[in-house]
Amino acid sequence: MRIVVAIGGSIIIKNKDHKKFQEYGEILKELSKKNELFIVIGGGVLAREYIKIARGLGVNEAQCDDIGIDVTRLNARLLILTLGEYAYPEVPHTFQEALKFASSGKIVVMGGTEPAHSTDAVGTILTEFVNGDLFVDLTSVDGMYDKDPNKFNDAKLIEEISADEMLNFIKDKDIKAGTYEFMDMTSIQMIKRSSFQAVIANGYYPKNLIKAVEGEKVGTRII
Ligand code: UTP
Repeated sequence: MRIVVAIGGSIIIKNKDHKKFQEYGEILKELSKKNELFIVIGGGVLAREYIKIARGLGVNEAQCDDIGIDVTRLNARLLILTLGEYAYPEVPHTFQEALKFASSGKIVVMGGTEPAHSTDAVGTILTEFVNGDLFVDLTSVDGMYDKDPNKFNDAKLIEEISADEMLNFIKDKDIKAGTYEFMDMTSIQMIKRSSFQAVIANGYYPKNLIKAVEGEKVGTRII
């Protein structure tokens, strides 16, 4: 299978150390034996800190986004170092480059591309661009809930949802650099217009990636 995995910066860089990189490194090496892998890494807390400084300078949102993109690429370089020989040694800046680097047969690791969307959107556009079979979004929540689980004890995890229903759910959300919801409009629209499968799962447990790839029940599957 050709698989695109988006790993939230809030997961991989959360504790500002190497541990999650190593945990993911082992799983990705294993998965790469049978699958073609493209990984998109988010910016997490570091991106938000840098964006905050840029915003303090009074620059526009696109310039703030651009700073965030550089942080995602730095995080991508750390995963490339983790994967060693298994990864293509450069971070692609465009979808074309990602496809070109994949012809090496190695795992391709990238961050953001251009302003005004999240790395989740990069992941979904990339999945379409490379004709991927599956997009896995590894984030800091277990998946999508019918209501905010931080506010409501009876919030239920939605195991399956259509892209249309998801679009309705997020359409009123505010979008600023560094403040995207767990999945943005662009991402859901990409899932809607393409035929690849998509799963949102908790990336704190790297084994959830294996479950998503093997079609086991995990997180929220978008159909
Ligand atoms: P992300 O959107 O991936 O990080 O990129 P996040 O929203 O902090 O989510 P987690 O924590 O990684 O899960 C960080 C910021 O970089 C900019 C946006 O400002 C985004 O909020 N960015 C990223 C872009 O503008 N374009 C991109 O293609 C990627």
